[in-house]
Amino acid sequence: MIDTALSIRLLRSITGCFLYFYVFTHLLNHSLGLISLETMESGRALFLRFWRHDVLFYLLYGTLLIHFLLGIYALGRRRSVKMSRKEWIRNSCAVLIPFLLASHLSITLWGSRFLGLNDSYSFMILSTFVLDPIGYILLGLMVAVVWTHGSIGILGLLEFRKIYADYRGVFHSIIFSLPVLAYGGYLNAGFELAKESKTNPLAILEILANSNFTKEMGVDIVFLSDLLQFLIYPSMLLTMLLFVVFRRIFEKKFFSTRVKYIDGTFVNISKGKTVLEASHTANRYHESVCGGRGRCTTCRVKVISNLDDLPTPNKIEQRVIDRLGFDPSIRLACQLRPEKNIEINPLISLVKNEKQKLRFDNQEHLSGQEKETVIMFCDLRGFTTLSEGKMPFDVVFILNKYFKLVTDAVTENQGRIDKFIGDGVMAIFDQDHNTSLNCKNALRASSEITESLADLNSELSNEEIDPLRIGIGIHTGKAIIGKMGYGEASSETAIGDTVNVASRLEQLTKNYSCQLMFSNAVAEEAMLDKTKLKSVETEIRGKKEKIDAFCCNSAKEAIDAF
Ligand code: FES
Repeated sequence: MIDTALSIRLLRSITGCFLYFYVFTHLLNHSLGLISLETMESGRALFLRFWRHDVLFYLLYGTLLIHFLLGIYALGRRRSVKMSRKEWIRNSCAVLIPFLLASHLSITLWGSRFLGLNDSYSFMILSTFVLDPIGYILLGLMVAVVWTHGSIGILGLLEFRKIYADYRGVFHSIIFSLPVLAYGGYLNAGFELAKESKTNPLAILEILANSNFTKEMGVDIVFLSDLLQFLIYPSMLLTMLLFVVFRRIFEKKFFSTRVKYIDGTFVNISKGKTVLEASHTANRYHESVCGGRGRCTTCRVKVISNLDDLPTPNKIEQRVIDRLGFDPSIRLACQLRPEKNIEINPLISLVKNEKQKLRFDNQEHLSGQEKETVIMFCDLRGFTTLSEGKMPFDVVFILNKYFKLVTDAVTENQGRIDKFIGDGVMAIFDQDHNTSLNCKNALRASSEITESLADLNSELSNEEIDPLRIGIGIHTGKAIIGKMGYGEASSETAIGDTVNVASRLEQLTKNYSCQLMFSNAVAEEAMLDKTKLKSVETEIRGKKEKIDAFCCNSAKEAIDAF
């Protein structure tokens, strides 16, 4: 059976992506103005060959119409104005777009396609930047609003995907730099044209002549633009608004249902609203990490009463239920739209005090991302014995010197310190998505740590302590990187088998009486000459099979095998 809500959402996403691609190429074309107006026009010729090809032309405007109608439909379906800040921005932009786009569409769609207007860059820049600065400002505003709306939508689709985690920097650079380049291009071309029109007043007449622009055409375009901007679109919005208001009154009177919470409080909501919306209506904090898109399970609730009256899960929810094998009484609050009164127990507990919310600056961190990572563990050997014979301040002094040298070596080799655990350190190397480079960096860091430790030992030679010794373990593989902990005590870290193996290898340096142990996976990735290394097949606590590893009496041996 076709799930209407899911199909509509899918169609909105597909049409949105298509339109975003169009805007992307359009802004790229604008950016060519940074070189010259002529380059911009040459780019436009290519742009038009593609986008004004009959098939693509109708596909583009058909897609725009569908996306617009689906947006209006979504607006009408809304039963609450409670939204996240991102949703507010995206939806406000969506409401503004048709208004700002009306005059542009009247020129580029109606004028160029049906009235024979040549809407070249020269003409568009002349009619806005040179002759109508207000039109130019509105055009700039339209670009900002369209791009913001599209970018939030695209990032929402990518947010929990691996490709976004891997190329986040690339996505962000494109999203932030493209409109700046496009504005720059348009501005530069505008100045070029304004300068030319001063030195050669005939240039304006020439551009107008080439554009086939006539007074009657101008009247037609302005008429259509005003019609869309001030009559058709506002009427549609108003109709939708009235529909929402009347439905609200009607539903409240005849179609409401009660959601009761385990603590005895309850809220009446219109049928069709989700349980998550019910919590929002009741001003209750309800965890919903993915923003109600069925991609996490943090909003899940246990339904305590009227289980048989629950509507069947939609496809989005069913997918989660199948994957996690939920009991029939466990439902996603963001997907469940109760038809009859129900009593629920939110499983991620509701808290009244907003300060107690799990606060994370990035939802992606909360959900965790599986990625290729290189993990390094270092530990001081016999430090407990050493610290027993020293004053606490001396111990802290020595430890901090040791932490500094480890931190310096790790950060200088593109790694980052994950945590200090007593006299141990866990470091992560996952820069640039280049595992080979990360493995080499981890090995280099381990060598630098041991060299610096030797210097520290000479510095401490008067301290009447045995020289500090260290054990280092390195392993590479997939790990879950995510923000973990609670409130202020949360931080990004890595968990998983790769972390455990790296930690065990560090501990095994005691058994093998060596300074550094790393797995075969690290040696492979770093493309080491294994013939120069001492290999061992070793058992790892918690793993059934033995693993191949290499042990180095001095960490420098690994560098010699590069
Ligand atoms: S909020 Fe994520 S599944 Fe409901």
